[in-house]
Amino acid sequence: MAKNARQVTVRTETTEQGDIRLRCGSFPTSVVVGRGLLPRLDSLTGRKESPFIVADDITGPLFGDYPGKRKGMHLLPRGEKGKSLSSIGGIYTSLAGCGMERTDTILALGGGVTGDAAGFAAATWMRGIRLIQCPTTLLAQADSAIGGKTGANLSEGKNLVGAFHPAEWVLSDVECLRSQKEEDFRQGLAEAVKYGAGEDWNFLSWLEENAGPILRRDCGVLLRLVSDCSRMKLAVVSEDEREQSGARARLNLGHTIGHALEAASGYKRWKHGDAVAAGIMVAARLAGRLGELGEEECRRIGRILSRFSLPTGPDRPWEDILLFLARDKKFTGGVPSLVIPRKDAPCTLRSDIPLPLLREAYEKSL
Ligand SMILES: NC(=O)c1ccc[n+]([C@@H]2O[C@H](COP(=O)([O-])OP(=O)(O)OC[C@H]3O[C@@H](n4cnc5c(N)ncnc54)[C@H](O)[C@@H]3O)[C@@H](O)[C@H]2O)c1
Ligand SMILES: [Zn+2]
Repeated sequence: MAKNARQVTVRTETTEQGDIRLRCGSFPTSVVVGRGLLPRLDSLTGRKESPFIVADDITGPLFGDYPGKRKGMHLLPRGEKGKSLSSIGGIYTSLAGCGMERTDTILALGGGVTGDAAGFAAATWMRGIRLIQCPTTLLAQADSAIGGKTGANLSEGKNLVGAFHPAEWVLSDVECLRSQKEEDFRQGLAEAVKYGAGEDWNFLSWLEENAGPILRRDCGVLLRLVSDCSRMKLAVVSEDEREQSGARARLNLGHTIGHALEAASGYKRWKHGDAVAAGIMVAARLAGRLGELGEEECRRIGRILSRFSLPTGPDRPWEDILLFLARDKKFTGGVPSLVIPRKDAPCTLRSDIPLPLLREAYEKSL
């Protein structure tokens, strides 16, 4: 446990209503994880002015009426196209139509796509207005809504444009997760396994013990799942607010191979969490070869990924992936930098990995 201890402490408090409130150091975001949060938005945030809601064409109809009074609502098209510059341009047009001022607030109500697009609009409208994130997917609650990264896709690549703009509040209502499609819910579980293998093996044990109720989406268990992931994300981003000290690199466990797989499939066959799961398995095999993980830990990672119906390896030859790996900014001088999980310790970024060893781990995972 001592090896997992962080310099930063996340203050955690459970309220009378059973909400879990999290804050960390000077990081400007308060996180609340609970049930039935959306109808309590005003009392939770203490805000008097109505927010402007940005949702997508699924989350708007599902949840748009819960937060009560609003200045207006803009619906993005669902999926990655919701993060295009033309979709974000549509948000600006609606904000102008509602007379949104510098003191107003945008409320992002949806998954990671909505959070990134609405966050980018909030970062840039009148040079920055307040933002509340109400994430409605497991991936967004456990990961993307916390940390301040907002972004847009260009035809030249995903997330090429963006800004740091942390939300004042992240309100994660776990009841929203019950309507998610199984395939989408699974994408968030991959990020949860990332926290377990990368940050805290006790959390991985908890995932193993609670896999059944997690998959049944028992709200009590989801509350613990989301609040633990939020605590770990908040600790890492508070350590490295603007991605300068290197601490945030740990959040990339499984992502270097994952991103290459996503790109190699033209962002069609591989969804983000599925690709990260395959990447975690390759990183675990590599860690085994480097003496950082034992065989049993590697097997545990494979078992929990399978339990969550996540892939345990890639599906295309190394040569296909190498092309996309070489484009990664963490690939310098023909040597990749990769995050490696370690037994009983947080993962670490290594820049001394021989390419043949990575290839061996990749091919063993095929
Ligand atoms: N900013 C960050 O730090 C960060 C980190 C990781 C990922 N991301 C981004 O997050 C995005 C992926 O997010 P995602 O996986 O949440 O995808 P998403 O936002 O596309 O949501 C997936 C689908 O689920 C639907 N949906 C959302 N909530 C629902 C609910 N409660 N019930 C039923 N359907 C619901 C959406 O309409 C969408 O069709 C990517 O664009 C990725 O780049 C950002
Ligand atoms: Zn991710």
